[in-house]
Amino acid sequence: MCGIVGAIAQRPVTEILLEGLRRLEYRGYDSAGVAVLNDNNQISRTRALGKVAALTEKLESSPAIGNIGIAHTRWATHGKPAERNAHPHMSNQRVAIVHNGIIENYEELRVELKAKGYNFTSDTDTEVVVHLIEMYLTQGQSLADAVRETIKEVRGAYALGVISIEQPDVLIAARQGSPLVLGLGLGETFIGSDIQAMLPVTSRFIYLENGDFCVIKRDSYEIFDDAGAIVEREIKESNSGMCTAELGKYRHFMHKEIFEQPTAVQSTLEGRLNVNDLKHCVSGDNIIETLEKVEEIQIIACGTSYHAGLIASYWLEDLTDVPCSVEVASEYRYRRRPPRDNVLFVTLSQSGETADTLAALEKVNTDKSMLATLTICNVAESSLTRESDYTLMTLAGPEIGVASTKAFTTQLVALQMLVGLLIQAKGNAPEKVEEIVNNLKKLPILLEQALEKDAEIEKMAEHFIEKHNALFLGRGDQYPVAMEGALKLKEISYIHAEAYPAGELKHGPLALVDSEMPIIAVAPKTGLIEKLKSNLEEVRSRGGVLYIFADKAIAMEEKDNIHVIEMPEVPEMLAPIVYTIPLQLLSYYTAVFKGTDVDKPRNLAKSVTVE
Ligand code: M6R
Repeated sequence: MCGIVGAIAQRPVTEILLEGLRRLEYRGYDSAGVAVLNDNNQISRTRALGKVAALTEKLESSPAIGNIGIAHTRWATHGKPAERNAHPHMSNQRVAIVHNGIIENYEELRVELKAKGYNFTSDTDTEVVVHLIEMYLTQGQSLADAVRETIKEVRGAYALGVISIEQPDVLIAARQGSPLVLGLGLGETFIGSDIQAMLPVTSRFIYLENGDFCVIKRDSYEIFDDAGAIVEREIKESNSGMCTAELGKYRHFMHKEIFEQPTAVQSTLEGRLNVNDLKHCVSGDNIIETLEKVEEIQIIACGTSYHAGLIASYWLEDLTDVPCSVEVASEYRYRRRPPRDNVLFVTLSQSGETADTLAALEKVNTDKSMLATLTICNVAESSLTRESDYTLMTLAGPEIGVASTKAFTTQLVALQMLVGLLIQAKGNAPEKVEEIVNNLKKLPILLEQALEKDAEIEKMAEHFIEKHNALFLGRGDQYPVAMEGALKLKEISYIHAEAYPAGELKHGPLALVDSEMPIIAVAPKTGLIEKLKSNLEEVRSRGGVLYIFADKAIAMEEKDNIHVIEMPEVPEMLAPIVYTIPLQLLSYYTAVFKGTDVDKPRNLAKSVTVE
């Protein structure tokens, strides 16, 4: 998704802006651009289709030097990826803006502005914003007032950075919906979509709230809330340090992050696995008292995080008497559900900035319809963590690959902690909590053992290079594992894949089975293993080719059309976590053989901050 960086300093800012853009590359984008106010008080704008490296090359041959500037990586929503659609956008050489979000009423504004003589050079929704600002400047308004008037006219979501030749010592920032952070340096100030962009230059940040409007100078800033009153916002010190993502010995971040899972899980567990002290996993007041009252759990998430929620619903309903519903955020936010009492609303998210998940949380916060809200999230100080009553952090470290891997497995770990806490709060089956804790202690080693299958799975992936479709099967809590496997294969190798609960095969999908359709099954030793075996026999007897990740107990013989990879023996509740590993590796190697852009698959973004 789009990324914003801005800087006002006593030194040239172009390199700071470019480094900020490089650090936002993980979000996914298709073009990039920079605008600085140069010594002659002109806006010098450079844009490039493709990577930040292409923009850097352009700037090397034609440098832009100035002490104030804005920069952007664009992920196309309105108007295809093209240099003319890349940000910053400009109006009459007087003003330049960068924008993240979507302007919903841009079509009507475009018609009005055209009628007033404005010439549009892009197909974006953003361009109306810059022309409106220019129009108000022409009417004699200050830059701040021109932006204020403009945002009164636009509907939708935005994070904005604005510079103008009219006030070369002012950078304007505004936020509604899309995240924006202020970075405070010594005699210099920055803006960024997230702190990653600014970590090389500062560790002091202010997270802007919805409706905030900032007038930023080199060594001062003023923040106004949505009512126009000056407000103080808390300054947060980040200890994330400069830990830039390094590939090390790996060719792709996804492979590195798959291999980081034992450590990521270990960090998420570290110091938290004391049966009598589990409540300290969660930040927020009186979690046990809240859980005592909970009569239902509603989990909301998107994509991979949604799959983690589905798996947890099996655990929650199996081990507690608390019913649990799971829904994708984009559906939940637009539908009515009959009121229910004492519901704990749980959001799951790697980034903590996913627009649909955030909107669902905002909806229940506004309705005050939930007993409490809790987020399981990987980014401290993200919007979800700030707007939830309780936070349970996954400590997976930055995840760079667009395909989520270690965030998923650490979410499952955090969800098991939540299950343990709920059992404790309800006062039933304390031995179950002990079992969860003891199992989790074994998890890092089991993940290491699963990763030892890397070479075997790489070989297996060769079979998938020419395939166009694949079916993933699982039963019980392995069904969402199969769904996650199918999502991984789709998103990075572009092979169409679907997941089914294996018992559903004969209700339709069996018609698709032939020697061209690979069927991937996850088959740990659970109460459903015999049922699954029968389902796999149905496939075999119809000439289907099976790829099975199985516990020894399944005793499925390796034959021409049956490929088996034996997995370590695992406790039933850990099986969804451990069996996810081979599916991640299978997708990874298939994508590598197909030569796709593994870490930045086409059309996708890491952090989906627009609806
Ligand atoms: O940051 P989030 O966990 O909220 O992101 C949700 C989805 O966008 C994300 O999981 C997406 O499905 C991944 N690309 C899957 O690998």
